[in-house]
Formats: sequence, C-alpha cells, structure tokens
Amino acid sequence: MDSSFITTPQVQALLDRASGSDVAGGDRRLKAITRDLLEGIMTVIARHDISENEFWGAVRYLQDAAGEFGLMMPGVGLEHFMDLYMDAKDVEAGRIGGTPRTIEGPLYVEGAPLVEGHAHLSSDPDDTETLRMKGRVTGPDGEPVKGVILHVWHANSKGFYSHFDPTGEQTPFNNRRRIRLEDNGFYSFESKMPSGYACPPGGATDRLMGALGRHGKRPAHVHFFVEARGYRTLTTQINFGDDPFAADDFAFGTREGLLPMPHRQGETAYVDFDIQLQRAQSPEDEVFSQRIRLAV
Ligand SMILES: [Fe+2]
Repeated sequence: MDSSFITTPQVQALLDRASGSDVAGGDRRLKAITRDLLEGIMTVIARHDISENEFWGAVRYLQDAAGEFGLMMPGVGLEHFMDLYMDAKDVEAGRIGGTPRTIEGPLYVEGAPLVEGHAHLSSDPDDTETLRMKGRVTGPDGEPVKGVILHVWHANSKGFYSHFDPTGEQTPFNNRRRIRLEDNGFYSFESKMPSGYACPPGGATDRLMGALGRHGKRPAHVHFFVEARGYRTLTTQINFGDDPFAADDFAFGTREGLLPMPHRQGETAYVDFDIQLQRAQSPEDEVFSQRIRLAV
C-alpha cells in the first residue's frame, strides 16, 4: 500500500468528518489544522506501512512521554524550527538585526528575586569556577535601552537547575535572578560556572535519542529573557565558545552570535556579551510567549 490510499474518497470523507470540516460551527482555523495534521499522520502510516501494534506502541509512548514534552520539542528540533520560522517571517517583514533569538527550553521559573546593580546569581556553594559576565543592552541604533529587566537562569556544575534538581540539594532560585538595569543598559553578574547536561537517563527523550542513534547532551549555557518597554522581548541563551558540545547541541540551541569565548584567569571565567534588542512594533512584541512555565 502506498500513500495514494490517503487520496481515496473514503479516507478524504473520514478526514472531513473527523475534523468537523463537513459541519457548521466550531473554529475554522482549528478544523483546517486538525484536518492537515490527521492527513499527515495517515500519510506517514501508509508510507511506512505502520502496523496496528506499532500504532498503539506509539500512542503508549506519547502517553508515557507527556511529562517530557518540554524537553522533547527541542530534542526533535521543533523548538529550533519555530525560531527559524520566526526568523524567516522577520526577514520577510524587513525586521532584521539584533541579538539572535534561540530556544527557551522548559526550565524557566517565574518569580526569581529581582535585584539591582551588580548581581550574584548563586545562593548555594558550588565547587567550580566563578563566572563573571557583563555587557550592555542597546537598541537598534546603539542607544542604551532604559528600564531593562534581564532574566538570567542556568544550571549548577552538576548540570541541574534549581526547582528541577533530582538531588533536592539546591535552594529555591539558586542561579536564577531578574536584574533591573540602570538606564545606561549595562549589566554585570557573578555566578558559578554551569555544566552542560543530558536528558534524564531512561526517560522518554533519552530513549528516543538512543533509538535515533543520537545523544541527548547540551553544552553549558546561560539563558536570558530581556524585556524593556518599547522593545521586543528577546529569548536567548549563550553557549561558551570552548565547550566540547558547543557545535553538537542535542537541542539545537547553539547559534552564531551566541558563542562568546570565555577568558579564563585562575578560577574565574570572564565573559563579555552585549545584547541588542529590536524595537517593538506591537504590544505582543513586549510580552512573553504563552508557554506554560513553573511559577513559585
Ligand atoms: Fe538550559
């Protein structure tokens, strides 16, 4: 059987009925998306001659994997695809320039302490290098951005994030702060150097990566949200240019322009990283995406 089976009147009528396309009422956009999505799945089933057992095995896998969807979306490249898609739409609309966006990942926590001036991110001791990072947030013309809130979060030296640490060792909001910048747009903070990490061993994402012959590792990185009135909220992160996984991130978060090289002196790594924002063109530009985030 080949995928031309999908074009038969019987299957097309099933798609119309299943998506509600043959009845009035309901959401027209959702109907169209549902129809295309179902047709895509049916096409894959026919093209790869998927058996009943494989079909229900996949359903079972998705049921088990639900708690890891936030990790799986970057792992299978869909979160990066969304970035590429939004970039392409920006280019089409003539919105170019500024620090590249990249994936948020699933581990942001709302409500981190809001601090002013030079910030200390780490509440807990961690026997590793000190990370000192600084830079300036400017707008498209190089002007300092006023009223910036810089959200920063990263893992500890074991690769675990506070609030998601299976060892339970970290205090709340360790390595997480919101920093209110002065009107000159300069920021600086001190923290403990994060390590890269891997997806939880034996979890749904890890099993998928193994079955695909891929690894589930990320280079060390530091996440940022940058928000300021009148500017487009930026979701980004930096990797360290000398990290062995910098060019081989399972989550596809590494991007050109986001790979500063740390300058190491003794037990301290210094990183300079300037951030350039785009101007907001609509109120939606100034808010965060609507994904579900942990709030404490
Ligand atoms: Fe991360």
